[in-house]
Amino acid sequence: MFRWYSTVFSPVLRHRHRYHRWSNRLWSASPTLVFSAQYHLPRAQNLHFSTSRAMTSTTHAQSSVTPPQTVCVAVVGVGLVGSEFISQLQHFPAPSPFRLVLLASSKKLLFAPDGLAPTVDWQAQLQSSSTKHDYAFLTRELGALVRPGQKVVLVDNTSSEDVARLYPSWLKLGIDVVTPNKKAFSGEAGLFEGILAACAESGARCLNEATVGAGLPVVSTLKDLVATGDKVVKIEGVFSGTMSYIFNNFSTGSADGPSFSAVVKTAREKGYTEPHPGDDLNGADVARKLAILARHIPAIPRTLLPAGYASVQTQSLVPAALATAPDGDAFLAALPAHDADFDALRRQAAADGAVLRFVGVVDVEKGEVRAELKRYSNTHPFATSLGGSDNIIMFHTERYSPRPLIIQGAGAGAAVTAMGVMSDLLKLV
Ligand SMILES: NC(=O)c1ccc[n+]([C@@H]2O[C@H](COP(=O)([O-])OP(=O)(O)OC[C@H]3O[C@@H](n4cnc5c(N)ncnc54)[C@H](OP(=O)(O)O)[C@@H]3O)[C@@H](O)[C@H]2O)c1
Repeated sequence: MFRWYSTVFSPVLRHRHRYHRWSNRLWSASPTLVFSAQYHLPRAQNLHFSTSRAMTSTTHAQSSVTPPQTVCVAVVGVGLVGSEFISQLQHFPAPSPFRLVLLASSKKLLFAPDGLAPTVDWQAQLQSSSTKHDYAFLTRELGALVRPGQKVVLVDNTSSEDVARLYPSWLKLGIDVVTPNKKAFSGEAGLFEGILAACAESGARCLNEATVGAGLPVVSTLKDLVATGDKVVKIEGVFSGTMSYIFNNFSTGSADGPSFSAVVKTAREKGYTEPHPGDDLNGADVARKLAILARHIPAIPRTLLPAGYASVQTQSLVPAALATAPDGDAFLAALPAHDADFDALRRQAAADGAVLRFVGVVDVEKGEVRAELKRYSNTHPFATSLGGSDNIIMFHTERYSPRPLIIQGAGAGAAVTAMGVMSDLLKLV
């Protein structure tokens, strides 16, 4: 019934992260550089790099009263997350360093180099803008705003691959990029390499906290574990809110319960699935999140994920007969014919005192990245502590052993996703 996508192996990419901590709310204070690391450098070199940067930072803070830095923010994509992000930005307490200079939908663009007033009805202004969306214009104008004492951050709130492909050109100009868009980090290795190279060239940063677990601190936790010298052994979790909802309701430990198709139908009615539920059940979204995390782990070999998420071993829950269902309605109408297969899996799991969960696993020791339906004992946290559409992610590391570090909570929704984006923006101030 299930299909597995092929597994190929690829590069882990050289990556340099610089870690800033939001130390206080005074814009005049320099941000404190807490730690830096460059993968593939011996530990001593990592420490040398971080120490010298930290000393520079400290000296700077002590020797002058730094004028407030302006952070020009350009928002590309003003849908659910984009709108909520703009609202959080506009409600940031004064004195705010942020100046909202550009808004773009897929069709229109609004450019205000001196900044839009927080009180302005930006939707109406964008709607009435006569400027068509034009990347050459956007790149040129934003690039011209980068100068000492003034940063430019482009916030990509789209799910567009085309926008993701432009990150290297923006980063090379010194424009920082912040995004919940998974495309750039989970796609083919070339784009990811290009992003890292552009960051190294200009010093600009590309942050993607909200690409995994929305506002949950998953990416930053992984980066901190790695940068502080912990060894990640395995990451295992329920990464999809949709899959979480479906299996929390379908498989409760009992042999019986609602049919799989009925649960999927309800999930769609509640807005938890894509319009075509097959787009969730194929496991690709989980595979993308795993590719993003795997690329942050230095011990994962370079050869593991050449095609990004497409190289992840992914178990699709879309029955083969429904692979070509033209739309969500046709898919749901035909799904009941496959309920017996899912019933059998639930019954077998219950007989063994287990539940079914669709999980993602990055197994560093085995060199495997998998998205799959697995059984967990009725006493496992994936069985006992999940509710609704929660995500739960376990980090098994050298330090967090035998008890893993666990992060749990809502892994989707505009408010929490925008918060994850905003938290990245704050790291850049
Ligand atoms: N919603 C969540 O809970 C959640 C959670 C985690 C991550 N994310 C990620 O956050 C991102 C945004 O999600 P969303 O829910 O806000 O989606 P959305 O409501 O569909 O909004 C996407 C917006 O992007 C715009 N857009 C598409 N292509 C564009 C382009 N080439 N240039 C400029 N704008 C473009 C669309 O503009 P038009 O309206 O003009 O078409 C639309 O307004 C996605 O990458 C998603 O995967 C979302």
